[in-house]
Amino acid sequence: MNLSILGIPMDLGAGRRGVDMGPSALRNAQLAHTLRELGHKVNDLGDVPVAIPETLDKHAQGGFVFLEPIVQACKAAAERVAALPEGVFPLTLGGDHSISMGTVTGNALRGNPAGERMGLIWVDAHTDYNTPDSSPSGNIHGMPVAHLTGLGDPRLTGLGGGWHMRPEDIVMIGIRSVDTRERDLMREKGIKAYTMKDVDQLGMTRIYEETMERLSSTTRLHVSFDADALDPSLCPGVGTPVAGGLTYREGHLLMELLSESGRVTSMDIVEVNPILDTRNQTAEVMVGMAASLLGQRIM
Ligand code: ARG
Ligand code: MN
Ligand code: MN
Ligand code: MN
Repeated sequence: MNLSILGIPMDLGAGRRGVDMGPSALRNAQLAHTLRELGHKVNDLGDVPVAIPETLDKHAQGGFVFLEPIVQACKAAAERVAALPEGVFPLTLGGDHSISMGTVTGNALRGNPAGERMGLIWVDAHTDYNTPDSSPSGNIHGMPVAHLTGLGDPRLTGLGGGWHMRPEDIVMIGIRSVDTRERDLMREKGIKAYTMKDVDQLGMTRIYEETMERLSSTTRLHVSFDADALDPSLCPGVGTPVAGGLTYREGHLLMELLSESGRVTSMDIVEVNPILDTRNQTAEVMVGMAASLLGQRIM
């Protein structure tokens, strides 16, 4: 397969600094080399330009933290991704999870005749379904999915020029931290979330099967993988760790099954924060997850 790596070194949407170094950490963890070893043709496109927080006025948009530079970075990411030739698999590297407003939009609109639907598999400890109104933190990385479905600030909901994700085309896996009003919004919109309780009770294989069934009307799938979905003992380099996450094998099994499905056409790796990490372990684990999604097999 032809893979294109694109970094979005942005930490404007997170409460803690350092996820802007995620793309470097992932490249340093042998991302391209690992994927080439699997037989892929890998093209690293470099990074999308992102504003440096120290050069900005944090509240220039009336209390809305870094809104305008986040819109700009997401637009740039969406445009780069949408311009890639069909058949190329974009592997986009965050950056905090607000980059996915850009990457998901770009992937959904890429060479896509109107009417075709892309499924979104959101692997995360969090549902990231806050709006500026509901958010207790004000951090935009807690809001991408709401905006992708059209809820929230028009500058962010407008990234797709009127296109939005349908709530029924989204499945979340690994969930264990949801804010009160965020939970209400998720319920209202009917977005499917497999919590850690579901992972314990049903197991990843059944969750995978149900997910494929649920997303059967979509023609392709985007996987957005937040490193904090995995347990913090495995991935300590994240800004919003939550205990009780996916194990190494649960993460790999999901990626291996998705790989076998042959339906995944793009992926994000987000929220890797080298400042908070232990010897780049989190980046190394996430490179392993990408390798499993992209065909690495034990035997
Ligand atoms: N729900 C919290 C918030 O909205 C945490 C979000 C964490 N999101 C993430 N992408 N790590 O602030
Ligand atoms: Mn997230
Ligand atoms: Mn998260
Ligand atoms: Mn975070």
